[in-house]
Amino acid sequence: MKPAILVARAIFPEVLERLSQTFEVTANQDDRVYTPAELTEKMRGKVGALTTGSERIDAALLAACPNLKVVANMAVGYNNFDVPAMTAAGVLATNTPDVLTETTADFGFALLMATARRVTESEHYLRAGHWTRWSYDMFAGAEVHGSTLGIIGMGRIGQGIARRAARGFDMQVLYHNRSPLPVAQEVECGARYAGKEALLRAADHVMLVVPYSAETHHTIGAAEIAMMKPTATLVNIARGGIVDDAALAQALKSRRIAAAGLDVFEGEPSVHPDLLTVPNVVLTPHIASATIATRLKMANLAADNLVDYLVHGRTRTPLNQVSR
Ligand code: DGY
Repeated sequence: MKPAILVARAIFPEVLERLSQTFEVTANQDDRVYTPAELTEKMRGKVGALTTGSERIDAALLAACPNLKVVANMAVGYNNFDVPAMTAAGVLATNTPDVLTETTADFGFALLMATARRVTESEHYLRAGHWTRWSYDMFAGAEVHGSTLGIIGMGRIGQGIARRAARGFDMQVLYHNRSPLPVAQEVECGARYAGKEALLRAADHVMLVVPYSAETHHTIGAAEIAMMKPTATLVNIARGGIVDDAALAQALKSRRIAAAGLDVFEGEPSVHPDLLTVPNVVLTPHIASATIATRLKMANLAADNLVDYLVHGRTRTPLNQVSR
């Protein structure tokens, strides 16, 4: 009998087909997001699962699913996993690094450009029929090329954004990270380490690419926004909860900073109601890695993680170490 796995959300049919050759697959091609109780019920008796950021894997679920050996997240972020609880339960946790780095960095740049140059705000104006004539300051935004970019979180995606900024847009790039990069890597991506406050005060644009954890919760709140230039833009492609969305909405309303671009939100898919009414924010529904090619690579890597571990006893992109 084939080992039983759950694919918790809809994925590419070809990846499902590939998994079905090895496993007895319970799929969810209707793509309903399961409640925690439903997820537990679906996962009971399964040895593996393919999840996305919307499925929380915690101690309560693990206790109810003693057969579980591996959960493969189709995401590089894994704040939906309680990794210590998974390790304690002997469950391997995996994610999908590398395959989405450049695509996500592209999107970070797209959101920065759209925000600084007021692309969506001006499009809404045009669509609403308000455009009657050219004028010298209509939707005048902030310069991107030659300006100073501050990147908070300098992992692979942060470095990809730094390279684009330094090489393509002649920007001065500052970054803040738990620890500075080796000098050769700093030179390669054209970035210089700065303390968080110094970065916030100096940057014309601030980009957040830091993983979510208890330590990074509200990395940007009212106090940090108060340090930013009134002309600055803030872009969050990291995770909801890195920014205090209520404080940001207030700052955008009062024009304490010029604009923001947000791909992720606290409590998403809900969005703070004030963010929906202020004009100077670009809002996208968590799509930074969303190209067909990249999402296919992510799904295949998650599938590889299941096959490698359950069939061959190998790990490919593990987040913890467990004994089988
Ligand atoms: C990731 O990979 O973490 C992205 O946010 C997609 O969920």
